[in-house]
Amino acid sequence: MASLKLIPYPHPTLRHRSKPIVRVDQELKDMIDEMFEIMYEFRGVGLAANQVNLPIRLFVANPSGDKEEGPEMVFINPVISKGKGTADAEEGCLSLPGINAQVKRNKSLNINAYSMDGTEINTEVDGFLARIIQHEVDHLDGVLFIDRLSDEIRRPISDQIAKFENSFESRRKSGEIPSDEALRDQILELEKKYCL
Ligand code: NI
Repeated sequence: MASLKLIPYPHPTLRHRSKPIVRVDQELKDMIDEMFEIMYEFRGVGLAANQVNLPIRLFVANPSGDKEEGPEMVFINPVISKGKGTADAEEGCLSLPGINAQVKRNKSLNINAYSMDGTEINTEVDGFLARIIQHEVDHLDGVLFIDRLSDEIRRPISDQIAKFENSFESRRKSGEIPSDEALRDQILELEKKYCL
């Protein structure tokens, strides 16, 4: 497996709804370690697998953003329930670097998932971690934070979003980004390995 790289918006894998994982092997554990490294390198607090072109249902997080401080968390097959309250706060995303906007999220929620060693996680969370979890689970469903903005909030950043789209178009024309068909084949191969 080649080393992982962040794929920027509007790469099609960011729009893929990831399937649940049924097996974890050493290669996947190594890729999860690499996801943490990429998250720290780009100063993120969460990273969903499809952001590094791994369209399977897991994300990593560290609310401190600091490798030394922790805690490092891996959420496999996360399911959110019992969302309560609403809160507005600024979010950014490693798939759209440089863009920030206020996003409305639930204040608290219940998360059910599995950690890397197969331990079940079932807990209520609130605050910043609840926001990270909602942002990352959205990724696994092919949803980006810019999809959740009102027109009023989106308008001032629409030029920045368009820049990502134009740059993607030109990189696709140059052949740097594989065709939709080739990407679909990559997805199927990965799903065959970890999801079926
Ligand atoms: Ni993101």
